Amino acid sequence: MRPLTIVRTAIIQVAWTRKKKIPVTNTDKASSSSTPSSSRTVIRRFHVLLKKQGQLKNASSANAEALGEIDREIDELGGLAAYQRMSSIGQGNDRGGGSEKVLIQWLIDMGLRKREVKGKLRLLEVGALKPDNYRACMSWIDTTPMDLRSRHPSIVEQDFLLMDEDENRGKWDIISLSLVVNFVPNPRDRGRMLCLAHSMLTQDGLLFLALPLPCVENSRYLTFDNLQSLMNALGLTEVQRKWKKGGKMAYWLYRKSESDHKPLDEYRKKTVCRQGDRNNFAILLP
Ligand SMILES: C[S@@+](CC[C@H](N)C(=O)[O-])C[C@H]1O[C@@H](n2cnc3c(N)ncnc32)[C@H](O)[C@@H]1O
Repeated sequence: MRPLTIVRTAIIQVAWTRKKKIPVTNTDKASSSSTPSSSRTVIRRFHVLLKKQGQLKNASSANAEALGEIDREIDELGGLAAYQRMSSIGQGNDRGGGSEKVLIQWLIDMGLRKREVKGKLRLLEVGALKPDNYRACMSWIDTTPMDLRSRHPSIVEQDFLLMDEDENRGKWDIISLSLVVNFVPNPRDRGRMLCLAHSMLTQDGLLFLALPLPCVENSRYLTFDNLQSLMNALGLTEVQRKWKKGGKMAYWLYRKSESDHKPLDEYRKKTVCRQGDRNNFAILLP
């Protein structure tokens, strides 16, 4: 091990044993996995580094040295590949399967399994760790899995934020953003992600959103009500919501609809809506 690596590893271990605050974007997904502490550690640290990296990139005077340090540490942790590996362990164990179970059940409840006349539903699964999450629904859902980093030849490697909006406008019946919005470090990019999803949905299309519960339950800037009014302003009406007190996850299903025509300015800046010991998760419109 290089001396610098030893020093940095030691610093990380000290920081972790001091029980640093857990970042809100952490879903603690690997806590019941076969390698609980290593999975937790990588996911947590990765979110912290990603956030710092985003902040530095957005700073007016970019600090190349600090950015380099962060990039190096991300590499040493195993990069996005390690993060995805840990996340997929958690996806199986801690949630009793992935979020797709929740979405599939909602679609079945809405009677969408039987809409043969209109053909299969076109689903864009953003942030897909596996190529076949919707395999059981092949007869009625045509899935396009995609991710920033593809782990399988069937997963399209693509940044959702860089997709061609004109080519995709009104194209998708369903878009899934499960634990993806919270992965994006910049609150304005999170808002842009929702705007883009809205534009890419068919008329009456459905947006599936999953976030770690603390993002809405314990944020200084976002509550369930705020999120709902932001989504309504964008033209997304809630049709389903699922979470439980003391749980880790929150799930929503929205239908594309007319915007409520409220001015969007109030969603373009952070507004404190709760005081106290809160996290800083926010979604801002671009
Ligand atoms: C925590 S994993 C979530 C995986 C899975 N959807 C789930 O619910 O467990 C987040 C994934 O989203 C991907 N991701 C984040 N931002 C993205 C973007 N802008 N475009 C495509 N994929 C993205 C990451 O690469 C990562 O694989």
